[in-house]
Amino acid sequence: MQLIEIARSDDVKQDQVLAVKAGETPLLLTRVGGKACAVASKCPHLGLSMAKGKVVDGAITCPWHGSRFDVCTGANLDWCNAVVGMPIPGWTSRLLSMGKKPAPLPVFETTEENGKVFVRLPG
Ligand code: FES
Repeated sequence: MQLIEIARSDDVKQDQVLAVKAGETPLLLTRVGGKACAVASKCPHLGLSMAKGKVVDGAITCPWHGSRFDVCTGANLDWCNAVVGMPIPGWTSRLLSMGKKPAPLPVFETTEENGKVFVRLPG
């Protein structure tokens, strides 16, 4: 496991997304209940960037097709229910998912020390 400094603690704010890189790995950071949470920046649906996703009540919504994930556990909360922010009828959700089953968003363990946020990456 590698421990990599990725941000200043002051830059990680509740309900805001901070796009960072840990080495070559793009991550998204936010703060929930005082804790810095780090997730993969690529959506498990089609691998598109979620850097412009909105965080509300500890969940990030993918800006492309509306899938929603817990930003601390990565759990999938909703799957493919919108197109670029516009809700779609339930029956079209299966088409939009393009055969991909709901999947969690990878999460990364974080620690904070001396005003800095660190993430643990495998390897
Ligand atoms: S790319 Fe995120 S929901 Fe489709």
